[in-house]
Amino acid sequence: MAILPIVEVPDARLRETAEPVAEVNDAVRATVADMFETMYDAHGIGLAAVQVGIMQRIVVIDLQERELEEGEPREAARDPRAFINPELSWLSEETSSYNEGCLSIPEQYAEVTRPTRCRVKWLDTTGATQEAEFDGLMSTCMQHEIDHLNGVLFIDHISRLKRGMLLKKLDKLRRG
Ligand code: NI
Repeated sequence: MAILPIVEVPDARLRETAEPVAEVNDAVRATVADMFETMYDAHGIGLAAVQVGIMQRIVVIDLQERELEEGEPREAARDPRAFINPELSWLSEETSSYNEGCLSIPEQYAEVTRPTRCRVKWLDTTGATQEAEFDGLMSTCMQHEIDHLNGVLFIDHISRLKRGMLLKKLDKLRRG
């Protein structure tokens, strides 16, 4: 396993469309393991392969939502989930807003409105087809990550004015 460097805006790779995974094999499983390690190291809850420069349709998510018992290490709340070739098959008409962030746009957040619930089809790490409906933060995170596979960032869902302000702040942060 390895911690991979995270690609940040304005890297052009974040704007490309990722390729479907042709076969779920050991190489894909190794990529998934590296992605989890990279995501945990960066304290993220979701990561798409394109964010580590791998142009394949692979997403990892771990909301780490479970309340820890006293004395339990932070790692005890881990609930890693990998999604290969994930596809949205349904979106609810109802929408909700979350304050979203992205490891490729460090320390910047904005309210993004998306469908509240979504239905997703994907391959698991054994290559089996799975399908499930998600709501809440999991639904938001899933839509955010699938966007990455299509070259879309959360800042594309906010106004031009807000996007401009956010990128200016990021610029300032980087210059120190
Ligand atoms: Ni992101």
